[in-house]
Amino acid sequence: MTETRPEPPGTDSAAVVPPVAPPPPAGLAGWLTTYDHKVIGRLFVVTSLLFLVVGGGAGAVLGVERIDSGLQVLGEGTFAQVYTLHGEVAVLLFLVPFFLGLATYLVPLQVGAAGIAFPRGSATAYWAYLVSGLTLFGAYAADGGVDGGSAVGTDLYLLSLAMLALATSLALVSILTTAVALRAPGMSMVRTPLFTWSMVVGGGLTLLATPVLLGRLIELYILNHFGGDVAAVGAFGQIAWFWSLPQVYVLAVPAMGVALEIVPVLSRARLRRHVSGIAVIGFSGILGFGAWAQVESTFNDTLYVLAGLVAVLPALALLGLLGDSVRRGGFARKAPLLLALGAAVHLFLGALAGGISVIPGLELGGTVWAAAQVHYTLYGGATLAAFAALWYWSPKLWGVHLSDGAGTAVFLLTFWGAVLLAAPDLLNGLSDQTLMATDLDEEGLATILNGASAAGGALGVLGVLVAVTATLGAAAGRGTRALADPWEANTLEWATTSPPPPHNFDGTVLAVTSAAPLADEREHARGPAPSQETR
Ligand code: HEM
Repeated sequence: MTETRPEPPGTDSAAVVPPVAPPPPAGLAGWLTTYDHKVIGRLFVVTSLLFLVVGGGAGAVLGVERIDSGLQVLGEGTFAQVYTLHGEVAVLLFLVPFFLGLATYLVPLQVGAAGIAFPRGSATAYWAYLVSGLTLFGAYAADGGVDGGSAVGTDLYLLSLAMLALATSLALVSILTTAVALRAPGMSMVRTPLFTWSMVVGGGLTLLATPVLLGRLIELYILNHFGGDVAAVGAFGQIAWFWSLPQVYVLAVPAMGVALEIVPVLSRARLRRHVSGIAVIGFSGILGFGAWAQVESTFNDTLYVLAGLVAVLPALALLGLLGDSVRRGGFARKAPLLLALGAAVHLFLGALAGGISVIPGLELGGTVWAAAQVHYTLYGGATLAAFAALWYWSPKLWGVHLSDGAGTAVFLLTFWGAVLLAAPDLLNGLSDQTLMATDLDEEGLATILNGASAAGGALGVLGVLVAVTATLGAAAGRGTRALADPWEANTLEWATTSPPPPHNFDGTVLAVTSAAPLADEREHARGPAPSQETR
């Protein structure tokens, strides 16, 4: 049997003793001075969602602009600026920080720790992220960016991205140290909850790739600062490899962890073998590490082609594992389950599109096929998984449930919005429509497809607005109060109140003896099933 029940203080069982943050003062002063990982995690999550609104809005404008030839809303230079801003905001200010925030909140709870390893480091990372995000907008306003006309603005732009890379690394060091060093007794790495494991893999590999990005930014800064032409050296490509094939899969690894946590719990059938989830996530991370694939000359390398093709396998295995749980346990029509399954389907479509794109001879590089691949993976996949995480962990984050109806609406808008946004780009990619194209060689079908894609984008933006509004409501305390373990879940974050006390657990977390300690405890309390008794 697993012994995971929080015991009254004073028991002499082996205890994990991480730093514990005192309760923060209320209001703005509390936010500014806190080093409670739960407050920092929530700040990361909410801020990243607000950036998503801006990033999604920029994407919608791009979608309208490229429907047919001629620019409707923006000028030529502004289109290029909005294009780069959209990718940077969506990936660097929303997606990465969202999962950093979720992990800052959840990883200590999932491993049974009373706090995060470096609370002040996490707090510094959040404030550096916020300042660099705002600086990025300031840089664009000053005509910076890779296509900007102001050298000072471009310096500011490169500085803001560099600060963002440092903030990401700092937040990751704190999360990874917690996952490695502060686990409850008995929780071997192979027994770690799958979201935490996905942060070890995806976060660890991001931590390895971030210095490479930082190096590139320093190189561009030196070039720009001493009179070189940043745009002429293809600077955006030197930044955008961070979310391109194969590195894009590393950014989606936490989404796999989210789906592998939620689906077995809500379909009431544990994974047959926890280690299969560990392997799928690990394999996906290894194939996704792509800091080596930044320059076009590597795109025909056997390694690049193989990594692109083989990356379909973990996505397929993910679908297989989740499908097996649903088949054995049954399908409960609950918003987090819909959102998580939808994310897994899109991750598979993204990997499939990535696999096809590396086939030599098809020459899909530089076409909007790449935008479709990115949107399936990071929008339909990772962003839908982010929404699944909000609906599933809202009880822990804010002590209330998000409305199931709103979650279903977010699922429909995001799932189908992503399909409609990306599928036309696959077809237009086959007819060689290049990325960032606003002057189409042949209109007609391409225009209709671009229009369909813009309509998908509009649905997506609506989905973002519903998700963000619902989350802000929950953050303000609106919604049905949640019990400690409303889903009858498996992992330690559900062994404490919703939301948890400042020190996370009332009592000591005892040794765990499996990957699903809470499920074990429930089964033990119920006694053996009748069919087992007769055996
Ligand atoms: C919410 C609605 C969204 C809309 C309407 C939208 C729309 C667009 C459009 C129209 C493009 C230009 C494609 C082209 O012709 O070159 C684009 C590019 C891009 N989008 Fe989105 N997008 C959305 C969400 C997202 C999200 C959530 C992410 C990532 C988390 C994302 C990441 C990107 C990236 C990285 C590119 C650049 C693609 C490349 O250069 O390969 N988008 N988006």
